Amino acid sequence: MSSSDEICRIYERTDLRRAGGGLIRPGGLKLTQRAVAAAALPPGSRVLDMGCGTGVTLGYLIHQCRFRGVGIDLSTNLLAEGRGQDPCLPVAQASGAHLPFIDAAVDAILAECSLSLMEDVGRTLDECARVLAPGGILLVHDVYARSPESGSRLKGLPLRCCLTGAVSREEWIERIEGSGFEITHWEDQSQALKEFAARLIFSHGSLESFWCGAGGGGGMEGGREIQQAVASAKPGYFLIIARKVSTAP
Ligand SMILES: C[S@@+](CC[C@H](N)C(=O)[O-])C[C@H]1O[C@@H](n2cnc3c(N)ncnc32)[C@H](O)[C@@H]1O
Repeated sequence: MSSSDEICRIYERTDLRRAGGGLIRPGGLKLTQRAVAAAALPPGSRVLDMGCGTGVTLGYLIHQCRFRGVGIDLSTNLLAEGRGQDPCLPVAQASGAHLPFIDAAVDAILAECSLSLMEDVGRTLDECARVLAPGGILLVHDVYARSPESGSRLKGLPLRCCLTGAVSREEWIERIEGSGFEITHWEDQSQALKEFAARLIFSHGSLESFWCGAGGGGGMEGGREIQQAVASAKPGYFLIIARKVSTAP
C-alpha cells in the first residue's frame, strides 16, 4: 500500500478511546499525574498539551492541576469531539511542526503518545524548544522499540499509531538532546502498555482482531501480520522529562 489516503489512523478509532477511558494512550491520567509531579510544575504554569486529542488530559491540567493550559492537535475529528464535550476547551488545530505560539510562550509542553506520530520529529522538537521559556520543561510519554532492528517492519505497515513511530530508547534520547534539551528523568512505563494491550484483548478477544480492521484490508490474516510486526519490535513505554538548555541571547 502506498497512498497516504489509505493509511488508517488508529488513534482516531473510537474503540481505542473506549479502551483508554477517553484517552488515546496507555496509563490514563495516573501517568500524567506522575509526570507532572516528577516535573514539580507549580500551579499557574503555562502548559501546552501537544497532540491533545479530545482534550481529556487538557481538562485535567486546567481543572485539577490549576495550570494555564492550551492544546493543539491536527485531527479535525478529535478536536470536534473535544469541543462537543466542552465548547470552552482552549484548543487549536495545528501541527507540532508549526506551533502557533511566539517564542518562550509556555513553561512546559506535554506530549503524550503524540511525538512518535509527527511527520518530522526533529522539527517538532525544535519548535518545542522555541516556544518554551528558558529552563522550560518537556514531558514525553511515548512508545520505544526494544528491538529497533524490527522497527522498519512497523514503519511499513499501512497504519499510523505510536507503534509505527517507535524508535529505540537511545534514538529518543539523541533526538531530544539534539534539539537543545537536557534529559533530567527517564522512567520505564512499559507496564502501562501491557495493561493497555490487556484491555484491547478484553474488548476485542485478541490483539489480532483489534488490528484486523486496522487497514490494508487483510482481515484476520492482516491482523495477524500486524501483530507479528508489533511483537517483534518488543515495544515498551517511557516517560522522559527534559529541560530546555538556556542558550546565549
Ligand atoms: C495517540 S493520540 C494521543 C492523544 C492524547 N495526547 C491522549 O493522551 O489521549 C495522538 C494524537 O496526536 C495527534 N497528532 C498526530 N500528528 C500530529 C501532528 N503532526 N501535530 C499535532 N498533533 C498530531 C493525533 O491527532 C492524536 O490526537
